[in-house]
Amino acid sequence: ETVEWEAASYDMGGHDTYMHKEICEQPDAVDRVLRGRIDDRFSTVHLGGLNLDAREARTIRRIKILGCGTSYHAGLIGAGLIESMARIPADAEPASEFRYRNPVVDPDTLYIAVSQSGETYDVLAAVQELKRKGARVLGVVNVVGSAIAREADGGVYVHAGPEVCVVSTKCFTNTVTAFALLALHLGRIRDLSVTDGKRIIEGLRKLPSQIEEILKTEEQIKEIAAEYAGAQSMMFIGRVRGYPVALEASLKLKEISYIHAEAYPASELKHGPLALIEPALPTIAIVPDDDLLEKNRAALEEIKARSGRILAVAHQPQAKADHTIVVPKNEDELDPILMGIPLQLLAYHTALAMGRDIDKPRNLAKSVTVE
Ligand code: G6P
Repeated sequence: ETVEWEAASYDMGGHDTYMHKEICEQPDAVDRVLRGRIDDRFSTVHLGGLNLDAREARTIRRIKILGCGTSYHAGLIGAGLIESMARIPADAEPASEFRYRNPVVDPDTLYIAVSQSGETYDVLAAVQELKRKGARVLGVVNVVGSAIAREADGGVYVHAGPEVCVVSTKCFTNTVTAFALLALHLGRIRDLSVTDGKRIIEGLRKLPSQIEEILKTEEQIKEIAAEYAGAQSMMFIGRVRGYPVALEASLKLKEISYIHAEAYPASELKHGPLALIEPALPTIAIVPDDDLLEKNRAALEEIKARSGRILAVAHQPQAKADHTIVVPKNEDELDPILMGIPLQLLAYHTALAMGRDIDKPRNLAKSVTVE
């Protein structure tokens, strides 16, 4: 049993699909998640519903993030943001896996449940089990007053607005941005300096206009998508921060185009998937201008040496790539928020070229409220 959104009650605003509308809404959506939360005086952010005071925040030894599907991927990026800014060990796990492995519930661990709908059964059941065992659970949720939001001890609303398309776009971006806010907040209570706090805040403020810029590359992406629409399979690679971006981009492509896709850490290519590389298997590579740039370039060379086609999402054109979608540079920590967006458009235009039912892909539902 699944819950269907009342699609007819929302205006498409001149777009052909809700997915397209929701992709294009992202500059405004990100603006909303930031609004009223930035505190320039202390170079931090205020998160009114967190229910976690500074003293408690300092005692957290570990953070475990739980979610399903796209929300799990947002959680993976969130864990990276928390580790890098707050220096608290953090990881993400699919909520259903967590529930069924009888996890060790540790009193010094903060648990964070991520859900767009706030109704996903696997996430809700994990929250209820954690609460029964006395754990502290926060929610990072879009739908205000939803079941997970009510069960959690506190949390951050992501304010993406209603998302109608079955696959998540703007809510993913806003959830990751909400994690950046949480990471900054925790970081500034712990060891993140004022200077770094300022740097992150400046980066956050740039996001909406940088997303606008990325949306202008849609025509280029459409042309690339026309080339890839016939592919049997695609490979997505990224490293560290880029890897969850690759996972999410590969999920998006699978969900709406039904093209098989794999996501791998670029560093794992040589341990197996390199055997798949041939001209018929395009690789989509996340190549940010950061400390791993040379490593990522080496992976592109490996693929090119095996005649693989490459699309890079990067901050500057990549010589080894057949195509590069150039995205604006932000702070290293915040780059993943931007690098996923062109790949939402790639999935969209690939699916469109293949005549798919983009807003309602086969076999999937917007939220899965039963086991
Ligand atoms: C379903 C949807 C996915 C979504 C997942 C989690 O499987 O098809 O797009 O990511 O549920 O949903 P949630 O509402 O908990 O974020």
